[in-house]
Amino acid sequence: MELNRSEFISIVIRMTLLSTCAYFGTKWLIGQLDPTNLQKKKSKQTAFIKFKKLGLEVKNLTDHELMIASHLVNPNDINVSWNNIAGLGQVIDEIKETVIFPVQRKELLRNSVLTKPPKGVLLYGPPGCGKTMIAKATARDAGMNFLYLDVSLLTDKWYGESQKLAGAVFSLAQKLQPCIIFIDEIDSFLRSRTQNDHEATAMMKAQFMMLWDGLSTDPDCTVIVMGATNRPRDLDPAILRRMPATFEISLPDEQQRKEILSLVLSSEECDRDVDLHKLAINTSGFSGSDLQELCRIASLLRIRDLIKAEDLKKSASLPVSQSSLETSSSLRPIKMDDLVTSVAKMKASKVMSTAQSRLP
Ligand SMILES: Nc1ncnc2c1ncn2[C@@H]1O[C@H](COP(=O)(O)OP(=O)(O)OP(=O)(O)O)[C@@H](O)[C@H]1O
Ligand SMILES: [Mg+2]
Repeated sequence: MELNRSEFISIVIRMTLLSTCAYFGTKWLIGQLDPTNLQKKKSKQTAFIKFKKLGLEVKNLTDHELMIASHLVNPNDINVSWNNIAGLGQVIDEIKETVIFPVQRKELLRNSVLTKPPKGVLLYGPPGCGKTMIAKATARDAGMNFLYLDVSLLTDKWYGESQKLAGAVFSLAQKLQPCIIFIDEIDSFLRSRTQNDHEATAMMKAQFMMLWDGLSTDPDCTVIVMGATNRPRDLDPAILRRMPATFEISLPDEQQRKEILSLVLSSEECDRDVDLHKLAINTSGFSGSDLQELCRIASLLRIRDLIKAEDLKKSASLPVSQSSLETSSSLRPIKMDDLVTSVAKMKASKVMSTAQSRLP
């Protein structure tokens, strides 16, 4: 049976339409089957906005780079500066010398091999002592783009995705340099390798280290991997080797506690009876975030008093003059008593949580 010309053309058109529909249909179906599809779309939109703000083009980025780019922080948008960190002057000075100066004065140190910015920096110490704050302030001071990586982002359930994401972290950081890749809780991601490691995890760790080493091949590349951990001993020795600049951020001592309390309370009105020296002595073992919480609780006690006073006035339905209403509606200064009550509360809750953690 012979086909005439018009029949032949019509068959070709129908076949083309059918295969186009099949292609886009399958692509749509695969997209719907991927549970992370919605998250990926959102990440792309966020990345697009962030890149536009930096005056960069997104069109050359891969899908995986776009996912990582949604975690980008512009140094000008970082709201933590050295002025917000108290009691860590010595560590801050060391970071300025070893990390920030070599990044900012690259030209000056061009011929020196020994004073290049380190490719890896580790901040370690107990929780709530300022590691994340220091990382952010470093990026801000050095004017470096900041890739804040969540470990869960890199440990994708889909086989092979984690490796692609790890690759994207480094390729994107190179496009964004000068850039800090900040990995919080780095121990949960790059802990000592064991025989029980899943094959995909082991491969990802190996690839991560390989890409990291790749940074050293380009002398002009200003990308720093900065990690923070509460458990430095759990880290893979191979990772520790790649982080030559390590900074211990320990629990604050008495003098440091006094400095932190003074900074935290500097924005509040305090009574003259507030004795920071006494408070510092009574808060041994408190972290910076505990001290911040202590001051917050003390500040709330004033609100409690104010509400009580206003309720009392309402229930007595006393005719109040405008001036006395104004006085009663303003917050009183924080008193030493508020702070002492707050310390007692915090100590009690610390005892409770320690007891609970000891329960079988
Ligand atoms: N040295 C400090 N000066 C001022 N505030 C501090 C200091 N250390 C901690 N803080 C307060 O504690 C909060 C938590 O600090 P940060 O997140 O940097 O701790 P971290 O060491 O990263 O803790 P984690 O190990 O739990 O991640 C800060 O937002 C700040 O309010
Ligand atoms: Mg932290």
